[in-house]
Amino acid sequence: MLNKELFVKIPPNKSYPVFIDFEPIENLENKVFACTNANKILIVINEKVNKLYGKKLNIKNSIKFVLKDGEHRKNFKNYKRILDFALKNKLERKDAIVAIGGGVVGDIAGFVAATYLRGIDFIQIPTTLLACVDSSVGGKVAINTDYGKNLVGAFYQPKAVFCNLNFLKTLDKRHFKTGLAEVVKYAFIEAAATSLLAGEVWGEGYLNFFDFLMNNSDKILARNEEILAEIIEISLKIKASIVEKDEKEQGLRKILNFGHTYGHAVEKITNYKKYTHGEAVAIGMVFAINLAFKKGLISEEYKNEGLELIKKYNLVKKMPEFNEKRMIELMKADKKVKDGKINFILPSSKSFVDCFEFEL
Ligand SMILES: NC(=O)c1ccc[n+]([C@@H]2O[C@H](COP(=O)([O-])OP(=O)(O)OC[C@H]3O[C@@H](n4cnc5c(N)ncnc54)[C@H](O)[C@@H]3O)[C@@H](O)[C@H]2O)c1
Repeated sequence: MLNKELFVKIPPNKSYPVFIDFEPIENLENKVFACTNANKILIVINEKVNKLYGKKLNIKNSIKFVLKDGEHRKNFKNYKRILDFALKNKLERKDAIVAIGGGVVGDIAGFVAATYLRGIDFIQIPTTLLACVDSSVGGKVAINTDYGKNLVGAFYQPKAVFCNLNFLKTLDKRHFKTGLAEVVKYAFIEAAATSLLAGEVWGEGYLNFFDFLMNNSDKILARNEEILAEIIEISLKIKASIVEKDEKEQGLRKILNFGHTYGHAVEKITNYKKYTHGEAVAIGMVFAINLAFKKGLISEEYKNEGLELIKKYNLVKKMPEFNEKRMIELMKADKKVKDGKINFILPSSKSFVDCFEFEL
């Protein structure tokens, strides 16, 4: 079965459905209007996606803001531009914003939706694997600042998420792998999530996503449709189960940041231009695994197993070297810093896929 549907349960009244399917892209118009009472829709769409799919996404009563490509576009200037566009076009409180693109578009459009007239309906149509498995679900919306990534933002849940996997057919290999980095991240944190949630993720217990990814790499890299729908569903079930327990990252949700503390610093030190987010996260995961080994938290066997999974998907070609002092400075600018100390999510000795918070 290729079509899947799950529900993210955020109390008291912020729950929403996530649809994973291969239906014609043209059907999205009706689906969007089925989940909002908006009269007018502001579409915020990535430039490339607009070129590829703009004609098929003919949504009635909509106005369109096309955002140029690149992580550096997720900035204050474009946030203001989108706000001004909404104001100029007199978007009202009952109207809605629909983000169509990868995580960059989803994050910035979501932050506009969270703040425009104190919040209007927001719908996510993710078009990259990363956005399908991660950024479109969970409600984190943000923009980058000169001081670091995602430092200004909000927790703002969408009304619905439509993962139409037809979009992924045109995604290049590099960005497909970027999404796989976040998928691999879920394999590392799955045990922590499932044990902490007492088996609520799968009902009957532990799936071992780690082994699943180890054993199915050929099919996944060949973008087999059935397996793609499956890894997206598994990833989102893990994410949803965590977010449902800790929407605002007071505790458990922090494990979703595995690989991100170092990864964000990698993105920043290279001006968001050299590495994609997923590439930086993969580098961050290798760093975290090696750090955990150095600190005696995991055995050499665990370390090698973890590095093997990352290698299986060729997520890190070569570990880059950076100025250590500058990297520490950048990690200290991260929003996860507590009392000036850097927080890491690291694998622990109990089981390879069990992560916990660690302060340097
Ligand atoms: N909010 C969250 O919880 C969360 C979680 C993870 C990552 N993020 C954020 O997500 C962003 C990264 O997202 P991303 O990897 O999707 O990057 P992205 O949005 O920049 O998209 C990557 C590239 O894919 C292209 N593209 C998009 N859809 C396409 C399609 N269907 N066919 C062909 N090309 C297509 C885009 O033009 C772009 O060049 C980062 O800003 C990161 O901070 C947010």
